[in-house]
Amino acid sequence: MSVFRDDFLWGGACAANQFEGAWDVDGKGESVPDHCTNGSHTHPKWVTQTIHPDRLYPSHQAIDFYHHYEEDIALFAEMGFKVFRTSINWTRIFPTGEETQPNEAGLAFYDRVFDCCKSHGIQPLVTISHYELPYALAQKYNGWADRRLVDFYMNYCKAIFERYKDKVTYWLTFNEINCGMMPMGSVLGLGTIQGFEGPMTQVPDKPQERFQALHHQFIASALAVDYAHQHYPQFKMGNMDCFITTYPYTCDPTDILANQQAMRQTNWYCSDVQVRGEYPSYAKRMWADQGVTIRMEPGDAEILKKGTVDFYTFSYYMSNCVTTHKDADHIDGNIVGGFKNPYLKASDWGWQIDPKGLRYSLNEIYDRYRIPLMVVENGLGAYDTLEADGTVHDSYRIDYLRSHIQQMAEAVKDGVDLMGYTPWGCIDLVSASTGEMAKRYGFIYVNKYDDGTGDYSRLRKDSFYWYKKVIATNGEDLD
Ligand code: BG6
Repeated sequence: MSVFRDDFLWGGACAANQFEGAWDVDGKGESVPDHCTNGSHTHPKWVTQTIHPDRLYPSHQAIDFYHHYEEDIALFAEMGFKVFRTSINWTRIFPTGEETQPNEAGLAFYDRVFDCCKSHGIQPLVTISHYELPYALAQKYNGWADRRLVDFYMNYCKAIFERYKDKVTYWLTFNEINCGMMPMGSVLGLGTIQGFEGPMTQVPDKPQERFQALHHQFIASALAVDYAHQHYPQFKMGNMDCFITTYPYTCDPTDILANQQAMRQTNWYCSDVQVRGEYPSYAKRMWADQGVTIRMEPGDAEILKKGTVDFYTFSYYMSNCVTTHKDADHIDGNIVGGFKNPYLKASDWGWQIDPKGLRYSLNEIYDRYRIPLMVVENGLGAYDTLEADGTVHDSYRIDYLRSHIQQMAEAVKDGVDLMGYTPWGCIDLVSASTGEMAKRYGFIYVNKYDDGTGDYSRLRKDSFYWYKKVIATNGEDLD
């Protein structure tokens, strides 16, 4: 008998800006990613204030899900997906973020997507904001640094909640909200890039601004959750964190404390607010140590308390080490790097592969919050080889996913309440950190390349057939 629940939500995950394309179609406005060029593991992508005709902006065409959604959702259904995590592109609904009336053509597109899901028995899990802030809000207000974004976000939420109330039950307020705890979050999640043009890695880091912008996102998230609970009691509202598991590199107590602080800074701070409805006990010292003062308005504490989430979701790709010792080697990672763990191997992008870290993290999170959990991103970004006969033999991806599912099963046996699993980039799409197509995660290969060429055809990789069997056996047959 499977250890996973009978109603376990097997599926896959994507984000609008990374796969829809059609960036200026049917009234869509420009989003922050529409102003990001392509990059690579070694060359950071750029943020540009205008669209330069001689540069490549991968989100503009991406894999053109906008025009291929029926074919793609049929392929997801063929794998047996129960759930499809996607996001709504804010700029399809409110092109500059400030309109009072939503764009009907944008709303109609997601009607078609959700109806298509339904016709295949797949339920959507919708991220309201997945690194897709309207660029106009970034330029005019410096993104989430300005509290007025809370109102724009609420207008957007009210429009999509009402429109899709009969089609969507599961909602996530912000993708990887805790990326705002790291400098890269200024571009990805917070949009605090007013007047900036240059490599993404060179956006000036302003902790005061990031923490304040995050406060506004916490308020927005809590208001949206509370509004949904009051008006649509059938909705299930979740948070979404980028869980970067870290270990102390040595047993030196100084390293243990440094790791505790890193775990709070990176992983716990945001979800402590979103799940418990108040800032954690360690927040004051964290702010003081980083020279931060949060401006709060009367009533904010009550808003946070009323808007706590129903379930906790997170992405998990890798782990890192933390140390105060100088002899450790540095290594890359998702959103933030760390120190090398001698017991782990890393992907071609330097992300350390750590399936047991997923079991460990699931246990830590569940012990802390005791609400249902869902792994809404996990996967291996890798170079794939397309064979002449149209096959892709991605045994490395199967190995990665198998070992992580095995550890999820262990966590369930440990007592964790796990609702579902949606591996990232279930169809190849544009990388968020580098803008590459070459960094592929999918079960489905898309004939699209870094130089913008490709015919957009879709092909089933070996992992496609493997995952289909995993779902059909509710995670029992992982061979
Ligand atoms: C997560 C994001 O951080 O990781 C996704 O939510 C992203 O948007 C994914 O694509 C994988 O990262 P990358 O940089 O390999 O695309």
